[in-house]
Amino acid sequence: MEQKSNGSRSKISAYRGYRGLPPLVGLQTMQEATSKGLTVAASVARLKRLHWALQRLHTIFVSRITAIPTYELKMAFSLHAHYCVEHVQAFASRVREMRQPPHGLEVPPDSSLDLFFDEVLSATTMEALVLGLYDRAIPAVVRALEQFLSDTNRLFDHPSYRVCRFTLLEMREVQEYGEKAVQCLVNEEQRAALNDWLVRLDDMLAAAGGLDGTKAPSGRFIERQFSKTPYQYDPVPRRDERFKDSYNMGVNAEAMLFDPDIPPLPKTIMLYFKRMREIDVPEMMASILVEVQDKPWKYKRDMTRQLWDEARHAMMGEIGFVSLGVDWTKIPLNFTWSLGLNTQLSAKERHAVLFTIEQSLMPKRTGKEYEWEIAVATADQLAARIQDYDWADEIVHAKIGREWLVPEIGSQVEAMAFGDKAWSRILGDWAKWRDQGLTQHRNWWPEVYRKACEHWEIEPDLRILAYNKTYEATRADLKQVAG
Ligand SMILES: [Fe+2]
Ligand SMILES: [Fe+2]
Ligand SMILES: [Fe+2]
Repeated sequence: MEQKSNGSRSKISAYRGYRGLPPLVGLQTMQEATSKGLTVAASVARLKRLHWALQRLHTIFVSRITAIPTYELKMAFSLHAHYCVEHVQAFASRVREMRQPPHGLEVPPDSSLDLFFDEVLSATTMEALVLGLYDRAIPAVVRALEQFLSDTNRLFDHPSYRVCRFTLLEMREVQEYGEKAVQCLVNEEQRAALNDWLVRLDDMLAAAGGLDGTKAPSGRFIERQFSKTPYQYDPVPRRDERFKDSYNMGVNAEAMLFDPDIPPLPKTIMLYFKRMREIDVPEMMASILVEVQDKPWKYKRDMTRQLWDEARHAMMGEIGFVSLGVDWTKIPLNFTWSLGLNTQLSAKERHAVLFTIEQSLMPKRTGKEYEWEIAVATADQLAARIQDYDWADEIVHAKIGREWLVPEIGSQVEAMAFGDKAWSRILGDWAKWRDQGLTQHRNWWPEVYRKACEHWEIEPDLRILAYNKTYEATRADLKQVAG
C-alpha cells in the first residue's frame, strides 16, 4: 500500500503540461491540487468569521475617528476603515455564491469573538486602543488570511483564494503601519500596565477557537474589562496639542479666493488651508456612520470611501504646507464645523449640510473647477495636482449624496434647502465663542503669508498682507462670497 501511494505520488509530481506548460494555469502544483483543500462548509465558516471581523473592525475604526486627538491616527483609522469595508463586501459576495440562503451573514459567528471586538472598541485610552487594534486584532486577521491561503485549494476555491489574497495585501499594510504606531505611541511602561488586558484579549480569541475558528475553543469564560460599560460614541471632536485655537474663524479663505483683485499665488495658502481643514469632514461623517445602522452595506461602503477621501484631502493640505515651508501648527485649523454639526444636528441634517456644501461646489464659476483654475494659474504643479484630485473626488461625493440622501428627503432642491436651513442653525456662534474667551479670532494670515513669501523669494505685497476678512458675517460657503 505504502509502495503504491509513493508510486502514485511520484507519478503526480512527474505530471507535465503540453510542451512543459505549467499545469493548472500555474495556480498550484498537481501535488498540491490533489492533496489540499477545505470542504465548502469549512471554507464558508472561515470566510464568515473573516467577514464578521472586518465588519467589526470597520465600526471600531470609524467610531474612534472623531474623539481620538492624534491627527495621524484619525487619518490612519479613515484608511483602515475604508480597507475593511471594501473587503467586507467581497467576503459577503463570496459566501452568497457558495450556499443557498439564508447565509447568516448578520448572525455573530461566535460570542467570544464578539467579546474580543467589544473590548477593543471600548478601550479607554489611546494606548489600549492602538494595542488592541494593531497588536492583537489586525495580526489575528492577517494570521487567519494566511492560514486560509495555505489551506484552501487554489483551483477549487479560487474565488475565495482571490478575495483573501487581495485582503491580505492591504491587511499587511495595515499591520505594518500599526506596528510603527505601537512603537511610536506606546512605551514599555504603558504596555506593561495593559498586559493583563492583552492576555484577556488572547484568552477571548482562544475561547472562540481563534479568529477563524480553526482551533478547538478553550471553553473558558472570559470576563469583560473595558466593555463592562457598553461603548458610547463620543461625538465631540478632539485634536492633539499641535492644534491650537480651534474656534478661530478669523481668516475667511473663501472671500480671498473669490477676490478678483488678489493674484493667484497667495491664494495657494488658502487652498492648502481649506484642504487641511477637511480633517473636520471625517470627524463629522464618522458620526453619521455610527448613528445610521439600518442602512444597506453599500451605503456604509460609499460613505466610508468618502470619509477616506476627505482624510486624503486633509493630508494633501498638509503636503502643500510642507512644500511651502509653512509650519501648519501655527495655523488655527478650526473644528467648529464638525463640533457644531455633531453636537447640534441630527444625522440626516448633518448629511444634508454636507450634501449642500458639496453640491454647491459643482457649478463652474463657484466651485472646485474654479479652485483648480487658481492652482493652475500659480504655475505650481503640486497645487494644481492637489486641486485636480480634490475636484475629481468631490464629484464622486456629490453623486453619493444624490444617490443616498436625495431619495430620503425627496428632491435635490428639497435636500439642499434642508441642508441649508440646518447649516444656518449652527452659524450664529462667532461672537459667542469670542465672548466666552474660547478664541480671539486672531488674524493668522500676515505671518503665514510672510513665511510663504520667503519660500517664493518675493517681497510680501502690503495690500495682500493687510487681508483681514473674517467669518463673522460670511459662512464658509463659496456660493455667498462668489456672488
Ligand atoms: Fe471635502
Ligand atoms: Fe476636498
Ligand atoms: Fe467631499
